Amino acid sequence: MALQIQANARKTLRKVSLYIKEQLGMTSLYDVVIWKLAFFISIKSKNTQFEEDEKIDRSIRVITDYTSLFNNTEKYLIINLLSIVHQRKVDINSEEPMRLVEKHCRQGFKILEEKFAGTDVDVVNFFLNEIPNIAADAPAEDLDNLEELIVKVKDKLSEKLHEAFIETKIAVKYLGYRDFQRISKYYFEVRDLNHNREIVDEITKSNLELQTGLHNKLYLANSSRERTFSVNVIKDEIPPFYVEEYLFETNDRDYSLMIGLDDEDRVFTTTLESLPHLLIGGTTGSGKSVFLKNLVYQLSKKYLNLVLVDPKGGTTFGGYEDKERCMLIKNTKDADAIMSDLVEEMDERYQKKKLDLEMPIVVVIDELADLLGQNKGLEALLIRLAQKGREAHIHLILATQRPDAKILEGLLRTNLPSRIAFKVQNQNESRIILGDMGAETLQNKGEMLFNNQKFTKRLQGFYIE
Ligand SMILES: Nc1ncnc2c1ncn2[C@@H]1O[C@H](COP(=O)(O)OP(=O)(O)OP(=O)(O)O)[C@@H](O)[C@H]1O
Ligand SMILES: [Mg+2]
Repeated sequence: MALQIQANARKTLRKVSLYIKEQLGMTSLYDVVIWKLAFFISIKSKNTQFEEDEKIDRSIRVITDYTSLFNNTEKYLIINLLSIVHQRKVDINSEEPMRLVEKHCRQGFKILEEKFAGTDVDVVNFFLNEIPNIAADAPAEDLDNLEELIVKVKDKLSEKLHEAFIETKIAVKYLGYRDFQRISKYYFEVRDLNHNREIVDEITKSNLELQTGLHNKLYLANSSRERTFSVNVIKDEIPPFYVEEYLFETNDRDYSLMIGLDDEDRVFTTTLESLPHLLIGGTTGSGKSVFLKNLVYQLSKKYLNLVLVDPKGGTTFGGYEDKERCMLIKNTKDADAIMSDLVEEMDERYQKKKLDLEMPIVVVIDELADLLGQNKGLEALLIRLAQKGREAHIHLILATQRPDAKILEGLLRTNLPSRIAFKVQNQNESRIILGDMGAETLQNKGEMLFNNQKFTKRLQGFYIE
């Protein structure tokens, strides 16, 4: 029975997902806050004939404040949209925007309900309750029925790719492609059972690049379907993905962190505990500081203490000086003192033996190499924090430009289990950060390889201003 409901829900999900994509140009359903979605659907219908005596359906949880639905920049857009649609000046300081947003949300739900009247699933309930469940317990790949989603069309690029496979004597059948925000995926089925994806990868990648002229602009990936893989072609122009647009309001004891978007535009998250420490490397301008700002923005909404260290004088973490439960350190001497304090705090926490009650402390350091270059004693302190911090809920997030520095060969590195490499200069640097090559082929700013000793994922980091 439960399975049946799930199957129905999935079918609906696919339908709704396609509708939203076609009508509203939003690509990933999971990233759409349902109230926002309903609002835009209603706005798009241009129907402003709200009946004043309209019965309010109390079964739908009412948003209390439109400011929690839209961030500051969006707010102005919303006010303008409302003014246009309602053909009068909607005053930002009045109660009106909130009232209108709420009514539009309700209308949006109604439209959705009508649209999907034929399906067995109660759409409102489905959005509010089922999507989070499906998203939480099913691996996202499961939701894809590749056969249905693939666009079975040939184009110049698919033909060139196919030719390159033929040339390298890898027998494949071209299935079709799917388009995502950052990449286009061209799916191929392998005909020879002896050819697994790794072998295909090794033999054909350079040839594929040669044939298409797309140097470092494509890579192969497994797909959910057996014996099928995709050639992922990276787009030239990628929009920035603003972190605010992906962030859901959560409990402040929820320690999950959004790392980036995967190749199908899904948000990849992990938790502080599973990190529990993170090393970040990448060449200048590759996106380290932007990534840190992102993490700090997310962390600042949680119940924890933040220690932000930036020897460049605080440029990365500007704006956090006066935040509650937040300490900004701009020079080596202070960094030294605070790390000693933290080691002490850690030892005390161990002695108290009630470790699970302690408030997490997250130490974020930008320009690690600069800091350690000026002070060798600091390294020993960081190593101790890395070795024993996990149980005491003390976490390290360290970023550095120069992965060739000696420090990263030693004890510190081996005690930082999670790694992120942005673009690096060469394979050797990639190995130092990740333990594997690959990061030298990354192209776009903010593009990264995330590795947690179990798997490696290629992701696009979020942008923040
Ligand atoms: N995720 C992203 N999305 C879009 N643009 C980005 C992203 N990350 C970085 N950029 C762009 O790249 C620029 C450089 O990024 P950032 O300052 O994070 O580099 P960095 O790795 O810290 O470099 P350095 O080592 O010199 O400090 C940013 O100002 C921004 O314009
Ligand atoms: Mg930087």
